[in-house]
Amino acid sequence: MSDNQASLTAGGKTIDMPVNSGTIGPDVIDIRKLYAQTGMFTYDPGFTSTASCDSAITYIDGDEGVLLHRGYPIGQLAEHSSFMEVSYLLLNGELPSSGELAEFSRTITRHTMLHEQLATFYRGFRRDAHPMAIMCGVVGALSAFYHDSTDIADPTHRKISSHRLIAKMPTIAAMAYKYSVGQPFVYPDNKLSYTGNFLKMTFGVPAEEYEVVPAVEKAMDRIFTLHADHEQNASTSTVRLAGSSGANPFACIAAGIACLWGPAHGGANEAALNMLKEIGTPDKIQHYIDRAKDKNDPFRLMGFGHRVYKNYDPRATVMQTTVREVFAALNVQDPLFETALRLEEIALSDPYFAEKKLFPNVDFYSGIILSAIGFPTTMFTVLFALARTVGWVAQWNEMISDPGQKIGRPRQLYTGPTQRDYIPLSER
Ligand code: SDX
Repeated sequence: MSDNQASLTAGGKTIDMPVNSGTIGPDVIDIRKLYAQTGMFTYDPGFTSTASCDSAITYIDGDEGVLLHRGYPIGQLAEHSSFMEVSYLLLNGELPSSGELAEFSRTITRHTMLHEQLATFYRGFRRDAHPMAIMCGVVGALSAFYHDSTDIADPTHRKISSHRLIAKMPTIAAMAYKYSVGQPFVYPDNKLSYTGNFLKMTFGVPAEEYEVVPAVEKAMDRIFTLHADHEQNASTSTVRLAGSSGANPFACIAAGIACLWGPAHGGANEAALNMLKEIGTPDKIQHYIDRAKDKNDPFRLMGFGHRVYKNYDPRATVMQTTVREVFAALNVQDPLFETALRLEEIALSDPYFAEKKLFPNVDFYSGIILSAIGFPTTMFTVLFALARTVGWVAQWNEMISDPGQKIGRPRQLYTGPTQRDYIPLSER
């Protein structure tokens, strides 16, 4: 058997399947002919051992805690780059020149305004609606307002709708916050950076000038970078599956937002801070550790564990450093940070977490920073969706422009009743 082949004996048949290699990471066994040749499916609920596509955008080595965007380590991008530059990199595959970056930033800036009619769309929601519910609704509605860029076969349409989505998410997010606190919407300010503009639309008010705090702008921009893309996670796979049917990009991103909301995924940042608030002081930590270890208790440590990382999430490392920077810049302290640090220390010294390779993930510290900046916990996943939009859009573009792209249609192991005849109501 050559290295680039695998053989499988099943149902009395032996078949050979190609083994394909990427540039780095695990090889894959191409099973596309398995059903035709054996009449059998593979079985992999949760896709723990399944590659759904090939992609050149993001690479994760879960055992080593490595995250690369187009080959660049997340730690270097978080330290030296910006969210706009990382967005360009994810979309185009290479770091931009200064001219390319200026042109890209200018294009995004000029798409930040929303169709004025959408402002009335917000007024249909209750004031106490969860901002993620508002974001799902408003983004799904974008295709009703920007139908001139939904021909996914047209690269120009794909580029325009990609830029519109990246540019308008901060405006949509800020408006969702403003609506929830009963303050007037603040229009985009083209003089500001992508992130500075978002902070002003969120925390500025028409009654006075708003000064962007550079340290906060830098921290927020870095948080966006840390959330920009993450290979084939649940929400990205949702966007790809929705896109594989030919659905318009706005509908696909709305599907990704809906999936991200779950507490096992992007909703974990809100859940993690709520968990830290529930724990309160470090003396209560062991009780919650014991609950997380109890098989009969559904409680899990939110912000801990990961499907891929079986080592420290490199984003959590940067996040922890950013907490200290924001606290210093805002001259604030939050006892929950001490509780989080202590919780991490106790958990990582506990055999249960060590054996299951459970480490803090991107969501463990992010809520502490966002809370210090002034966001309510209900906005945390909205910020995650805002940043992840560029990753979803880049992955969607990669899939749509693949000539071999087909509609995604998994099969199943059927466990229901075999065929039986209808029983008339009079006989039941
Ligand atoms: C994100 O995929 C991505 O890339 C996602 C993401 C991205 O950028 O897109 O990185 C963002 O979603 C980060 C993850 C945020 N979620 C949370 O923090 C929620 C808490 N974590 C867990 O629910 C869990 O760790 C998952 C969902 C993240 C991963 O779960 P898996 O891979 O399906 O693992 P599992 O549920 O099979 O757990 C393996 C074992 C189980 O015990 P056993 O059945 O083997 O005895 O570990 C235990 C679990 O009970 N376990 C935990 C735990 N996470 C897993 N026990 C206590 N606390 C936890 N947090």
